[in-house]
Amino acid sequence: MRNLFYVLLASFFFLSCSAQSKNKGSQPLAGLKDVFSNDFLIGTALSAEQIRQTNPKESEFIRNQFNALTAENIMKSEIIHPEWGRYDFSLADQILELSKKDNQKLIGHTLIWHSQLPAYVRQLKNADSVKMFFEEHIHTVASRYDGKVLGWDVVNEALNEDGTMRKTIFLDKLGPDYVTEAFRLAQKATPNAELYYNDYNNEQPKKRAGCIEIIKKIQAAGVRIDGVGIQGHWHLGKVPFKDIEESIEAYAALGLKVMITELDIEVLPRNFSGADVNQRVASNPSLNPYANGIPDSILQKQAKDYEDLFRLFLKHKDKISRVTFWGVHDGQSWLNGWPVRGRTNYPLVFDRNLQPKPSYDAIIKLKK
Ligand code: G3I
Repeated sequence: MRNLFYVLLASFFFLSCSAQSKNKGSQPLAGLKDVFSNDFLIGTALSAEQIRQTNPKESEFIRNQFNALTAENIMKSEIIHPEWGRYDFSLADQILELSKKDNQKLIGHTLIWHSQLPAYVRQLKNADSVKMFFEEHIHTVASRYDGKVLGWDVVNEALNEDGTMRKTIFLDKLGPDYVTEAFRLAQKATPNAELYYNDYNNEQPKKRAGCIEIIKKIQAAGVRIDGVGIQGHWHLGKVPFKDIEESIEAYAALGLKVMITELDIEVLPRNFSGADVNQRVASNPSLNPYANGIPDSILQKQAKDYEDLFRLFLKHKDKISRVTFWGVHDGQSWLNGWPVRGRTNYPLVFDRNLQPKPSYDAIIKLKK
């Protein structure tokens, strides 16, 4: 009799476990956009392939997880305005259609940036030609999507680390007021879009001061600026939480929306911060330690950083309108190829198989 009891108990235990694992497997993953629906938009950056929707599984995943989209590259001038007077809006129109179909907000990235400029602009020598490109580009691109995008990164990365103006073709040919002029032109071209200044490391005190100076100049000129993007390309174990909080408060105090626009947490060795795409480091096996998989201990440290970040974002959700991850999953991240080509990086909250990492679990737990 006793044996029969144990057999029944064991089979009940086995059936309940297999049911649970089956149930767990079939439960759809909670969408980050739904978990944080009362706090801020949750966005991601889409590659050209993701915009073309070549992978239906990935497209469904993006639909379920995010309610804001940024084109990682295809709305930059090198792609959307490849020759003088010729525009290619094909992929930009496609991400717009995608966002409308899936009820997601679209962020325009970016109207004026010194990087990824088309060759014919980089070679311009006289100020009048630069001015003509500058005015035509902003007007043509911004007016086309007026009333269709939520907002534009009007100017991207105009500052040096010490808060001074970065030496770019725009500064050189148009002078330091080019940033204000870009916002003035954008305001006229797209009265219905929010207008943002976007940069990396602008949570750091010196760069924050330079960013505030730019913002105050725009405001003093009576030109509209609605928000500031803190890109959020941070490093494992070195996330500057205090600087981030002080910056959220300082930018909000200017009457601006604050957005975390390109969030990722670098887990591979790198001895400098930021996201200056012009910086390169020679390949070296010691810089690619997790080519065959990442230790759980590192994933747990990353989860703690993401948890502490989202706890801070939730504390200031009255000031933060959007948190955008710079990529859908680890396999897409730009950090697999920068500043060292061909590395295997793990900076986001979903892995290469679209599975949640401990970081995902850690941030949604904050809302339970
Ligand atoms: O599309 C071409 C492809 O045809 C070609 O075969 C290949 C080989 O070089 O290059 C491909 O273009 C690459 C493009 O990404 C699309 O994958 C460019 O070389 C590469 O430089 C470009 O990198 C982008 C980077 O900006 C440089 O502009 C990254 O994907 C993108 O994530 C990154 O994003 C920037 C933000 O816009 C601004 N803030 C910093 C952030 C990180 O650098």
